[in-house]
Amino acid sequence: MEPKVRRNIFLNCNPEGLKSLMHQQLNDLKSSPRFEAPKHALIIGGSSGYGFASRLVLAEQGTKTVSVSFEKAPEDEKTGSAGYWNNTYFMEHFKDGHLDLNQDAFAKETKQDVIKYYQSLGVKIDLIIYSLASGVRPGPRGEMVRSALKPLGKAYTGLHLDVASKSLSEMTLEPATDEETKDTVYVMGGSDFYDWVMACDEAGILSDHVKAMTYSYVGGTFTKPIYRDGTLGKAKDDLEAYTYKLDAHLKKKGGEAMVARLKAIVTKASMFIPGIAAYGGILFDEMIKRGVHESTLQHVERLFRDNVYGGSRVFDQEGRLCLDTLELEPSLQETVNTRLQKADESILSLKGMKIFIDEFYEINGFLN
Ligand code: NAI
Repeated sequence: MEPKVRRNIFLNCNPEGLKSLMHQQLNDLKSSPRFEAPKHALIIGGSSGYGFASRLVLAEQGTKTVSVSFEKAPEDEKTGSAGYWNNTYFMEHFKDGHLDLNQDAFAKETKQDVIKYYQSLGVKIDLIIYSLASGVRPGPRGEMVRSALKPLGKAYTGLHLDVASKSLSEMTLEPATDEETKDTVYVMGGSDFYDWVMACDEAGILSDHVKAMTYSYVGGTFTKPIYRDGTLGKAKDDLEAYTYKLDAHLKKKGGEAMVARLKAIVTKASMFIPGIAAYGGILFDEMIKRGVHESTLQHVERLFRDNVYGGSRVFDQEGRLCLDTLELEPSLQETVNTRLQKADESILSLKGMKIFIDEFYEINGFLN
């Protein structure tokens, strides 16, 4: 099967490849040290990227999971989305005690379905992970509100890597309007996460020591104008603020809510962010050279084993768990920035860039 990629979005996937990738990943996890994993975890956005990696790491430690995701089933000639097949093969492998809901996480009915499931089992949630990445969310009157990945205040010119044609070009993005910023915060901010946790709490399905986690990105100077200083950054500020609000609420009973600053990886969502592909390729190359590169699974394992359920949590001044220190190490960032400023087509043949691009094909089932 030939991969079909347009504007860094995969239009098809290879189910067989996804099956073997998941089994390779489970095999890698077999030798992982055990940690005191939660008994029951709800993962919102558990079909791909950080959410799927979290589900695999936890399930391999014995956690029973419920995953909510929004994926396309195969239809006629269409293969369906990679996340659909990740869900299928996960359930085929782990079978009992796990649940998959292919439903809109923003909907009240989905929250009710999850609540009913836990109530019917008579168990409580020990961990909620919010790993959603969506470009749209239904508004209060049912209209579709869309996010806009744009800079704020002034235009941004950066390097764009088109994966399918393996070409680099300069792109300019105009700054977002106030409306676009507001919409991006509505779609990608923290209000839905807050609703999830509060709905589960009101239904009495959270354990007293529940942990509620959100995943965030800070990044360095190259990604700043388009990420942390852009509309996405405003959405992350909002997500983080809601997480702190939930932390204060859950702490009253012995629980907590946490923001984890994670590193840049290859996912459906990240490849869609302008400029991230070029940055990611050089970043991978430099991290591999310095011997500090981690796979997505290794990164997520470190998050749960050493940080969330371990004794080596490192927080920043805002109270966020820092897993991104290797990516943001100042001399590494300086080298990555210098290399990006001088970048031409020759970066496409770098070892790290090749690994980065190959990984994009792999997460869609096209293995080398
Ligand atoms: P992804 O695109 O791989 O996964 C997104 C998930 O959200 C999928 O499971 C998808 O089915 C689900 N989803 C989207 N819309 C939905 C809806 N309406 N209802 C139910 N499920 C829905 O994304 P990725 O990159 O793993 O992102 C997850 C989180 O991690 C995001 O908050 C992102 O900002 C954060 N993060 C990602 C980084 C990266 O480099 N990819 C870096 C640091 C943080």
